[in-house]
Amino acid sequence: MNIKLFPNYIAGSWVTSSEAKPNINPSDLNDTIGDYAQASTSQTIEAIECAAAAYPKWRETSPLLRFEALDKIGSEILARINELGNMLAREEGKTLSEATAEVHRAGHLFKYFAAEAYRSTGEIYQSLRDGVSLKVLREPIGVIGVITPWNFPQAIPAWKIAPALAYGNTVVFKPAELVPGSAWLLSDIIARAGLPEGVFNLVMGTGAEVGEAIVSHPKVSGVTFTGSTPVGRKIGASLFARGAKMQLEMGGKNPLIVLDDADLDLAVHCAIQGSFFSTGQRCTASSRLIVTKGIHETFVKRMCLAMKDLRVGDARAPETQIGPVASEAQLAINKSYISQAVADGATLASRERDVGAKSPGHYLTPALFTEVSLQSAIAREEIFGPIAAIFCVPDYDAALEVANDTDFGLAAGIVTRDAVKIDHFTQNAEAGMVQVNLPTAGMDFHAPFTGRKGSSYGAPEKGSLCREFFTAAKVVHKGCG
Ligand code: UN1
Repeated sequence: MNIKLFPNYIAGSWVTSSEAKPNINPSDLNDTIGDYAQASTSQTIEAIECAAAAYPKWRETSPLLRFEALDKIGSEILARINELGNMLAREEGKTLSEATAEVHRAGHLFKYFAAEAYRSTGEIYQSLRDGVSLKVLREPIGVIGVITPWNFPQAIPAWKIAPALAYGNTVVFKPAELVPGSAWLLSDIIARAGLPEGVFNLVMGTGAEVGEAIVSHPKVSGVTFTGSTPVGRKIGASLFARGAKMQLEMGGKNPLIVLDDADLDLAVHCAIQGSFFSTGQRCTASSRLIVTKGIHETFVKRMCLAMKDLRVGDARAPETQIGPVASEAQLAINKSYISQAVADGATLASRERDVGAKSPGHYLTPALFTEVSLQSAIAREEIFGPIAAIFCVPDYDAALEVANDTDFGLAAGIVTRDAVKIDHFTQNAEAGMVQVNLPTAGMDFHAPFTGRKGSSYGAPEKGSLCREFFTAAKVVHKGCG
């Protein structure tokens, strides 16, 4: 069979490279989706130079024009939701319904930020001096490097590219190597939205080559990155060294507290959804289930029962609830965490079973551990797979302490009917996002996204708060001339 080659998009043209990489379906390793051009360092630099050349004109464009371009992109994403959802499910392994929901989110993110182009306003202050006017302007910052992960190949690029363009910046986009198919389709839609040449560029390739060229180039004014904490910290150090701006969304080790008074059905639903859906491949996944002792035993039993019925399989089969792990490397990491947990003395409460897949793929039955030491790797490190640990604690105070005993601070959840505890938890959870009687993952697309401690650095993403990263303030005092 002839495998199609997908080029990069640089300076308003589709260009091939000397190297290309196959994109393989994790649900069926015999299915190659296409070959995707790997940009070289010099092609990446060309994209950056071109984005820098396009910037002065793009920043002057009318908000109406920016609105129209972004709104058109959003409309086309929504019109092609099935095609884009199918690609996402096929290349990443997210179930078709999750993938389609993500594409829906991406389309609306473009529409949200289309309207933000109109709201790109400044502030007027009253000066302390007579005859002086004082205003604070918001200006775009220049070329923005967009470096995105493989787990949300439509939504995360959308929530970084759309505000970058809306506020008048130009973009060099490097998607994760595992998911070039979604990135390519999105870029194709953006390329046909009437943006001037160089305003948006796609450079597919490795972090070591393409990522490094973006992070170190003096004409890239800021980088918005989502990925692991070690990579984010490394990128951050290099951006800091040359004085560039950064917006880093990194790992999570999110707690979900379940108190004795919780509605058990709801608690099990939140835990199963948060821990195992999207194959646990979300930085907002609940990997630490912290349960008070009165409900602990029943909760473990109910979780195991629910897990027995979870249908793991081909991401595009309608009955599938949990798709495969996205890559062979990630599957190996997950398996090594599972054996490490057993070696550390934890009890595997769930049963591993044959998923009965019809094709060779990276399938893994979700795993649930009890009797887990708070110091062990599965209690402390971000895994990024369908693996969760249950901790039994005497009461709410102990639960809060365990919840906050982590280097991360992204999402934190609680399931209870106790309004006082809900308020206390909301105030004292060391996390950027609190979810009450809801799974820890799955945030509204128009709300800000942010974490604390090792999870995030710089301005929040999305919502109105991301403007802090995508623009710079200019404070203007004006006297009479
Ligand atoms: C969500 O849970 O709604 O990489 C989105 C991630 C996050 C996005 C999570 N930055 O998993």
